[in-house]
Amino acid sequence: MHEVSANASAGHGAHHLLGVSTERSIAIVLLAIVVIGWAIYVFINIRQAKAEVGSEIELAPNRGNLPDDEELEGRRLEKVQAFGVLMLLIMALVLPVYWMLEGGRRSGAETSFSEASIARGAALAAEQECTDCHGADLGGARFAPVVLDIGNQVADRDSFIINTTWEGPSLDDVFTRFDTDAETVDEVSEVRQILVYGRGVMPSWGLEGGGPLNDQEIDDLVAWLWSERVSDEEAQARAQARFDAAQASEEYVGASDGKILFDLHCARCHTPRWPGRGPAQLPNNGGTIEVQPGPDGAGRYGPPLNKVSLERLFPDIADHLSFIESGAADNVPFGEFARLGNYGMPGFGRVLSDDQIRQIAEYERSLNPEDQVLPSFEQLHQPEDAE
Ligand code: HEC
Ligand code: HEC
Repeated sequence: MHEVSANASAGHGAHHLLGVSTERSIAIVLLAIVVIGWAIYVFINIRQAKAEVGSEIELAPNRGNLPDDEELEGRRLEKVQAFGVLMLLIMALVLPVYWMLEGGRRSGAETSFSEASIARGAALAAEQECTDCHGADLGGARFAPVVLDIGNQVADRDSFIINTTWEGPSLDDVFTRFDTDAETVDEVSEVRQILVYGRGVMPSWGLEGGGPLNDQEIDDLVAWLWSERVSDEEAQARAQARFDAAQASEEYVGASDGKILFDLHCARCHTPRWPGRGPAQLPNNGGTIEVQPGPDGAGRYGPPLNKVSLERLFPDIADHLSFIESGAADNVPFGEFARLGNYGMPGFGRVLSDDQIRQIAEYERSLNPEDQVLPSFEQLHQPEDAE
């Protein structure tokens, strides 16, 4: 998800405004002093000039007792010059010192502002129990129980309700996938969208999406998530460790690297029932079943992926690779038909290597759409498991 949309949160501008208005009032005071000073000077000058009217003869400047050249070019000149140097020193020294302090004051205000926001976000997260579903360390978790209607993932049933556990994704690395170009928290927009509108099993949190939290509170949650983010290196190391463990497990004996990587990073959105795989209960004591993931890449929150759809969408595999690397962005077209994207598909270029992305793409391009038909209820239910 590369593009950062310009409608970054309005709330973040508030502290900048504060600094600007302070500066403006200082400038206005300075301007007022200068203007009043000039007014007084001009006024006094005019008055003195008036007093002279009609008395030129006695007071004619060239008839007065003027200092001689010695004094004019000596002490007096030095005095005026010293005064000039003094003023110059004040400008040269005081202004930089002022600006130096001003910068520190401003970033100090910004730091304490964002620390307060992070603290409020952490308190909100505890209140809304984000970690129940995303893990105490934000590294992802299975949470239970979830009552789900997965009828849309079965061929011959409108409704198929299960009581199961579900998997929530890790969040300490969410900015390696979404808002990947954001350099400051002010540039976050995709994660904000996800929070405001929710996604699947995750309820919406923002008022606009029908949730309980206002814009400021969503900003605070984003600030908290931003403060919890791990480095790319840490996210890469964790992905590698998960890959090594999967490769060594019985489940993946003989599986290609592309298939393993697909399951680890893509299946949760592109394979039916993947986040709910495992034992589940049917309602009204209808017995227990083992929820099986659907055919690889047959589609869930993200669309089905297979050799027919992908060779049509990305005739050149290079475009497929760069799409996986950067993800989709709001209203940015992708693929052969210039389809308009949204913020749903993450980018993986910061965590997976070019080789790994190519292995995944090749795996996706090997999937057969004929294998991706929805199963019947009986196929899924496996009656021998029921009690
Ligand atoms: C009931 C469990 C639950 C709770 C509570 C919950 N989430 Fe989620 N969240 C999920 C699930 C499940 C997903 C993945 C959605 C999907 O599978 O389509 C998700 C996705 C996300 C994502 C997108 C991550 C990604 O890579 O897809 C973010 C960000 C997020 N949640 C933040 C939060 C925050 C912040 C809170 C607390 C205010 C929270 N969640 C509370 C279950 C939950
Ligand atoms: C958080 C959910 C999520 C994850 C994880 C995810 N995707 Fe997607 N993917 C989507 C969504 C949503 C779209 C549709 C994007 C759009 O239309 O803007 C999509 C679209 C795609 C497409 C384009 C196909 C099409 O018809 O639009 C490809 C290719 C793809 N994903 C590959 C992958 C790969 C490879 C991975 C893992 C490395 C992956 N996705 C992980 C949600 C996800």
